[in-house]
Amino acid sequence: MSDRDDLANRRDVWISAAALLEKAGIEDARFEAEVLLRHALDISRAQLYASLGEPLTKSAFEHFIDLIEKRIERSPLAYITGAREFYRLEFRVTPDVLIPRPESELLVDTALDHLRKARIRSAQIADVGAGSGALGIAIAHHRRGARLVATDISAEALSIARENAQRHLRRAAADFVQGDLLTPLKGMFHCIVANLPYIPELRLPELEPEVALHEPRQALTPGVSGTELQLRLLTQLRPRLAPNGIAVLELDPGQEDEIAATAAQLLPDATVRVLNDFAERPRALSIVA
Ligand SMILES: C[S@@+](CC[C@H](N)C(=O)[O-])C[C@H]1O[C@@H](n2cnc3c(N)ncnc32)[C@H](O)[C@@H]1O
Repeated sequence: MSDRDDLANRRDVWISAAALLEKAGIEDARFEAEVLLRHALDISRAQLYASLGEPLTKSAFEHFIDLIEKRIERSPLAYITGAREFYRLEFRVTPDVLIPRPESELLVDTALDHLRKARIRSAQIADVGAGSGALGIAIAHHRRGARLVATDISAEALSIARENAQRHLRRAAADFVQGDLLTPLKGMFHCIVANLPYIPELRLPELEPEVALHEPRQALTPGVSGTELQLRLLTQLRPRLAPNGIAVLELDPGQEDEIAATAAQLLPDATVRVLNDFAERPRALSIVA
């Protein structure tokens, strides 16, 4: 069969694939099948809807089936397409980085709100445990003259963060430093954001297979209690947080009392607040020096 041998039309292929995904327990099967079909054909939503009656070529069909099989094996949609939107920006993601979560947008909102109200210009921003770089890049993207330093223990994650910064920030607005928490950094920052791993390791098997089997373990859990890294970060914060600067740390609901108490103890002059996410669950701690 040549590549021009036509198979079923795009609509029928889409509907059959959605049925397969649904059978495999994928919740939003119709939408995901659409995203994967558009990805296989490399076309926009409008182009797909305008061409539903057209046939697929053999090679496009095979590519699409390959993507559907990956999804049935519970590879996350964002790893298959290589992209995820965060704070209205598109980020490249690979299995080397955590897929940015919508609830982390709270950290970006909080940081931007503070930088605006405190009238901080040319903000120095640190994103600790940057992964794809989504948090720090989203903040720096919205602050003229900002400079970002992204750190991560993973060199592979930092190379993805670098690609994302090249896409969304002006050249030379970002540095990438491999290392543990704030230890590789010098100087002070007006804004430190950190979405560090916080899931207790015993809870890993309870997670969705997409997360437990495919996202990097070192992006998910820091150890037994879940709060190990946030507490250690707090001990390093004081010399790195500029006067009137803000640190925003993501946390898991239930961790807020321990982390807030430690922050208040280590930074007694700072204003410490627990912030709720859109589902009204405690999701972050803000510390204003
Ligand atoms: C939960 S992911 C968050 C990624 C990104 N900030 C986001 O919100 O999508 C945590 C990141 O912290 C990194 N990490 C783990 N331990 C670290 C450490 N001790 N120092 C710096 N980064 C660390 C992981 O490699 C991972 O990229």
